[in-house]
Amino acid sequence: MKVILVVGARPNFMKIAPLCRAIRKRNQSIHDNRYIIHNILVHTGQHYDYEMSKIFFEDLELPEPDIYLGVGSGTHAEQTGRIMIELEKMLLKEKPDLLVVVGDVNSTLAGALTAVKLHIPVAHVEAGLRSFDRTMPEEINRLLTDAISDYLFTPSPDANENLKKEGIEDKKIFLVGNIMIDSLLSNMEKVKKSGTLKKFGLKKEQSIDDRQQTTDYALLTLHRPTNVDDKDAFGRIINALIKISQHVPIIFPVHPRTKKQMQVFGFQHYFVDLKKDTSSIINNGLYLTDPLSYSEFLNLMAHAKMILTDSGGIQEETTVLDIPCLTLRENTEWPITITQGTNVLVGNDTQKIENEAFKVLNGKGKKGNCSELWDGKASDRIIEVLLEQLVFKG
Ligand code: UD1
Repeated sequence: MKVILVVGARPNFMKIAPLCRAIRKRNQSIHDNRYIIHNILVHTGQHYDYEMSKIFFEDLELPEPDIYLGVGSGTHAEQTGRIMIELEKMLLKEKPDLLVVVGDVNSTLAGALTAVKLHIPVAHVEAGLRSFDRTMPEEINRLLTDAISDYLFTPSPDANENLKKEGIEDKKIFLVGNIMIDSLLSNMEKVKKSGTLKKFGLKKEQSIDDRQQTTDYALLTLHRPTNVDDKDAFGRIINALIKISQHVPIIFPVHPRTKKQMQVFGFQHYFVDLKKDTSSIINNGLYLTDPLSYSEFLNLMAHAKMILTDSGGIQEETTVLDIPCLTLRENTEWPITITQGTNVLVGNDTQKIENEAFKVLNGKGKKGNCSELWDGKASDRIIEVLLEQLVFKG
């Protein structure tokens, strides 16, 4: 079986790494060559900066991509179109039995659309998630990718329900659990050993397992167009951050698009740039740093008092790590992190953000309890299903 795995943007890498590992493990354990899975890793190049891409390959021990399409930045149409044009040439040459896409970025949709038109079966990992907000490019990518995929691997029962409501046949849907958590759990030992707390001057004693040994701090990520492309919205968030950071230091690894917008709006002066000022974070305040590697970020997340974010993946990780998460969005494609997890939606309303943050700082943050299939074995279940469907049945 020849399988092409497509990745493109930062949140794809931690979803594809467990799948590569599961394929490797499976190939090593079988003796009949007919059942070997030959996988080709394609990187579209949607994210290309070292901190947004290569550092994750190193950290997650992902093999170098076999093929790099190098599409780079552009409008949605330019980016999606360029990926399709380059990928089509490659698929015509390689003639794979299956193409796998993950998540909801432009590379996900472009990959699925190119393959389906060439009659190549498509598997979508992390299918069925819906924010029900069609102004988000990711929601459009999710809806369209699911509509044309042949194998839909879902992380939670609500995702199955969404797909059924959209008329997708039961036989295409497989509830396998959350692949992002495969990465999280398998990297936890490495994460504990990463010297991130020390690097930021947050570690007081030797033990990093003990949260009491670190300085209290909050962690922030922000990159959604609704929050950072609109000066008023971004300003409302900054007002809340200024207030909260009078009580706890906030560390902000900044996404390239957000950095650009901060310069456009002249918001940089609200932040202490840790690159320029290397003193450790001992005082309360707002601290800016470059995007971090996977292990560094997880290490900071695991010891933080709370996370403020508009990311999708961080809502899942904080629930598993039982860290309070304030999501700076009006909706989420991960409702389970609200019903069972540590997540609270606060939008970009100054007062709402402050209220929820002070609840956490006063010890009243939400407690998390994650779904039973978020157990680190989603990738093994995906491989079993694919072999069953494509090799043994076929
Ligand atoms: C993309 C995904 C989003 C995901 C996010 C995580 C889509 C539609 N969006 O959003 O779902 O949560 O990645 O990071 O696919 N840029 C750089 N260096 C890079 C990559 C991007 O400077 O390595 C700049 C680009 O020039 C562009 C901006 O960042 O101006 C946005 O990049 P893009 O990939 O279009 O979308 P993201 O906002 O990163």
